[in-house]
Amino acid sequence: MRKTLTIALSKGRILGETLPLLEKANIVPAEDISKSRKLIFDTNHEHIKLVILRATDVPTYVEHGVADFGVAGKDVLMEAATKNLYELLDLKISKCRLMTAGVVDQPLPNRRLKVASKFSKTAKAYFAEQGIQADVIKLYGAMELAPIMGLADLIVDIVDTGNTLKANGLEARDLIAPISTRLVVNKAAYKTKYSEIEPILEMIRNAVEDNEGK
Ligand code: ATP
Ligand code: PRP
Repeated sequence: MRKTLTIALSKGRILGETLPLLEKANIVPAEDISKSRKLIFDTNHEHIKLVILRATDVPTYVEHGVADFGVAGKDVLMEAATKNLYELLDLKISKCRLMTAGVVDQPLPNRRLKVASKFSKTAKAYFAEQGIQADVIKLYGAMELAPIMGLADLIVDIVDTGNTLKANGLEARDLIAPISTRLVVNKAAYKTKYSEIEPILEMIRNAVEDNEGK
């Protein structure tokens, strides 16, 4: 009997790029995810299930081993800093950059910096690594407002086209990390379910290569 494998997918932006990739890997949900309120889906493989989660919850499900695989942005994985998983594959989708940003042409003040971010742990680690003294203020969204309103000197946020920064009078400053979506696996599952995991990994790896060759 093949062991069941559960893949935790991030909903939102990433999901729209993950599903076509999985389809290329011949992993297809049994019903249309976008038209359903369900959170758990069967697939065309009897032993593979998909669960749809808030992106930030994906590492938690994989860490606890209730999902074997997870699909999440590198930004989310860095912030979660989860120990119990292996990052197996760069899916090369939802590519963007994690950057610092500030008000256009506004020099940094000559005091301890105030930095606002949803990625507060990553931001703290980054400024510490740079030897820059900074207090990090945790936010949950609309980070662009923080420098405009004087809550912070800098933000740490995702940048793709730069349009969001520009629309708010901000400019990108330093690159913290290039970001893309990764496939992670629970460490214990990788050993105990190796014979189920390896063929799926191969299918997804080929789909990524196929996407890249497009
Ligand atoms: P939540 O709704 O759970 O707060 P969110 O709004 O950050 O999450 P999305 O905007 O769907 O979720 O983004 C999810 C992931 O997509 C991010 O973690 C990042 O890896 C990637 N991402 C975010 N913004 C962009 C962008 N502008 N371009 C490309 N990828 C992006
Ligand atoms: C993301 C991110 C930035 C924006 C960057 O927001 O939080 O605000 O994209 O992309 P850009 O450089 O191309 O403008 P998203 O559109 O996902 O909205 P949300 O995070 O507020 O949900």
